[in-house]
Amino acid sequence: MHTTVDMADRTWHGAVGVVTTLLEREPVTADIAFVCGPEAMMTASVRALMNNGMPADHLYVSLERNMHCGIAHCGRCQLGPLLLCRDGAVVRWDRAAELMAVRGR
Ligand code: FES
Repeated sequence: MHTTVDMADRTWHGAVGVVTTLLEREPVTADIAFVCGPEAMMTASVRALMNNGMPADHLYVSLERNMHCGIAHCGRCQLGPLLLCRDGAVVRWDRAAELMAVRGR
């Protein structure tokens, strides 16, 4: 397991910096990755993993945003053709990337 911290004290001997730096620098040993967090961080993390050799269809992002009814009724969780409460909320990156790139979705 690889861990990084934003700021280290004197007792920390691991990596320091944003996680994307670690994801690009360290060898990826996992077959699949699930990424959560703010969308900008998920996008940066997924790109770092792909730059490090992981295929897009092995990456998943958690898009649990704008949930309201949770039963595919209100439409607040809509992302393009997806209702995230019904079709996600975890979506494979090769499907999510295009939808997340469109503003206002
Ligand atoms: S939360 Fe209402 S449709 Fe998904």
